[in-house]
Amino acid sequence: MANFDTIKGFAFDLDGVLADTARFHSQAWRQIADELDIPWTEALESGIKGIDRMSSLMLILNSKGVADNYSDEEKEALAKRKNDHYKELISTLTPDDVLPGMHEFLADLKANDLKMSIASASKNAPFILDKLQISDYFVGVVDPSKVKQGKPAPDIFAEAAKILNLPPEQVVGLEDSEAGITSINDAGEISVGIGDALQLHAAKINFPSTKDVTLAQIKAHLNW
Ligand code: BG6
Ligand code: MG
Repeated sequence: MANFDTIKGFAFDLDGVLADTARFHSQAWRQIADELDIPWTEALESGIKGIDRMSSLMLILNSKGVADNYSDEEKEALAKRKNDHYKELISTLTPDDVLPGMHEFLADLKANDLKMSIASASKNAPFILDKLQISDYFVGVVDPSKVKQGKPAPDIFAEAAKILNLPPEQVVGLEDSEAGITSINDAGEISVGIGDALQLHAAKINFPSTKDVTLAQIKAHLNW
């Protein structure tokens, strides 16, 4: 049974947890989907969260059963075009794009000597942390190109605990995606889901929004 006193570190997803960037991923993919005449659905909107770039493209193409109509080169070109557009969108980020409550939460963790790392599937994570001016809070950032499998596999969150030099059971992972919650749970960490509680029902603790996430609330849930 987890108790807050055993917790020594926090592993953060980035897009949709710290940074208001999930909307930019969605916007950039939606443009590609429109061009390919693939209807944008709720299932795509939530399904692309947490999974890597090529898996997102495959999800979109498979939603209309057209993945086989594109060669590997064409798929690479579509993924690159999405990322070029996404990079344009994130170039405008400022510290104001840190999601509500997260500046305070990071400062509180730091004040309590709790270590932090980044467990994002995004290759753009270091750039975004820099734009938000929050890089210094983190001991390290998982390089998603160096892990075997992306989310929902446990690899990214397992690596985030290694960066913290902590066993997984001493780490809390925060996520806004279903794939990410599975990754945290299967890595043996304590999962905090931020967003729709039904969708993120596998999380140990749920918060409706980032502004509800506080150290005191997490402590209260774990010591219940
Ligand atoms: C995740 C996002 O954080 O990063 C996904 O939730 C995205 O939507 C993934 O596909 C990979 O990001 P990038 O920036 O490497 O294309
Ligand atoms: Mg996310």
